[in-house]
Amino acid sequence: MEVREADITRLEVDAIVNAANNSLLGGGGVDGAIHRAAGPGLLEECRRLRGCETGEAKITGGHRLPARHVIHTVGPVWRGGDRGEPELLASCYRSSPRLAVEKDVRSIAFPAISCGVYGYPVEQAAPIAVGTTAAFLEDHPAIEQVIFACWGEDVYVAFQRALHGRV
Ligand code: AR6
Repeated sequence: MEVREADITRLEVDAIVNAANNSLLGGGGVDGAIHRAAGPGLLEECRRLRGCETGEAKITGGHRLPARHVIHTVGPVWRGGDRGEPELLASCYRSSPRLAVEKDVRSIAFPAISCGVYGYPVEQAAPIAVGTTAAFLEDHPAIEQVIFACWGEDVYVAFQRALHGRV
């Protein structure tokens, strides 16, 4: 696992994860960036998926992205932390790589799911992201590389801290 300050749409990995919404029909943030970079074929493919439950994931092709696959997951909206948000967030970090394994993905990049528009405090989200992913990797050695693609200094610092206990 590594933490990088990066635009996830530019990463040359087998799969990137999208922080989508229940409709899977696009939006702002990383979702908007991924759809812009992938081109209209991605939206067309997403329409056929008929949405996605919070905490779950669905997979499409990468279209014009360098990544072969996009795994769309829906993080929880932050409502104070006692509405099941931690468990739903952890579920995103399990359901996404589960789909990746089915497609023989060896390298995968995650954004900071829920930490933008959905308001999840990144210093609470980062340990969940790193801890859940570490546990998944122990059981699934076929995944060789995980990149946490951080957009912005605060996100980068929180993920570095969660992974290494320091900046
Ligand atoms: N590469 C990597 N990370 C990025 C990029 C990028 N190109 N662009 C933004 N981020 P958000 P959410 C970071 O809001 O909170 C959408 O409208 C961003 O700085 O994208 O799960 C969807 O359609 C933040 O740290 O996702 C949903 O409606 C992180 O990605 C809703 O937003 C996630 O922020 C989902 O909200």
